[in-house]
Amino acid sequence: MTKLLILPGSARRDSVNRKLAGLAAQLAAEAGAEVDLIDPADYELPIFNGDLEDAEGLPDAAKRLKAKFLAANAVVFVSPEYNSSVTPLMKNFIDWVSRQETDDEPSLAAYRGKVAGLLSASPGALGGLRGLVHLRSILGNIGVLVVPKQFALSGAYGKFDEGGKLTDESAVKSVKGVVEEVISVAGKLG
Ligand code: FNR
Repeated sequence: MTKLLILPGSARRDSVNRKLAGLAAQLAAEAGAEVDLIDPADYELPIFNGDLEDAEGLPDAAKRLKAKFLAANAVVFVSPEYNSSVTPLMKNFIDWVSRQETDDEPSLAAYRGKVAGLLSASPGALGGLRGLVHLRSILGNIGVLVVPKQFALSGAYGKFDEGGKLTDESAVKSVKGVVEEVISVAGKLG
C-alpha cells in the first residue's frame, strides 16, 4: 500500500493551501493510500543554519519530519507561491529534512526514490504555478521523482465554502488526477 505524506507549505490558520492539502488527503485515502497529513504548525523550525546544526544536530522537529519522509514512499507538496517561488517554510522543511543525522547515513536518504506530486493555491490568476516550477526543480535535483501532472488553483479565496470544502468540481477532479497519478506511480515502483 502506498504510504503518502501530504505536506502543506503554509502554516497560516486560514491557509487555502492547507485546505487543498486536506482535500488531497481525503482523495488519497479514498484511492486506497495510507495518508499522513502534516500540520506545519507541529514542526516549528529555525531557518537552517549550519552553526546550529554543528552545535546541536537536527532539532527535534526536523528529526520528526524526516522520520515521516523516511516512512513514506510518496509525498504531495501543497505550497503557496511567494514572489514567484516556494515559500520559505517549504524550503526550510526541505533543507532540514535533507540533512544527515549520522556519517554513515546515505545522503538525501529521505528523498531518494520517493515519488511526489505538486499542488498549489493562490488568490492570483496563476494559482502559484511559478512556485511549482521551482519546487519541481529542487525536488528533481535531490532524487525525487516528480510526476508530470500538477495543479495550481487560481482565484482560491473564492473557491472554498465556509466549511473549507472546494466548490469548483473541475478543480476537485484535477486534484484527484494528481493524487491518483502519484499513488499509481508509487505503486509501480513498489
Ligand atoms: C504572496 N502571494 C503571492 N501570490 C501569488 O500568486 N504569487 C506570488 O508571487 C505571491 N507572492 C507573495 C509573497 C508574499 C511574501 C506573501 C505573504 C504572499 C499571495 C499568496 O498567494 C496568498 O497570501 C496565499 O493566501 C498564501 O497561501 P495560504 O497561506 O493561504 O495557503
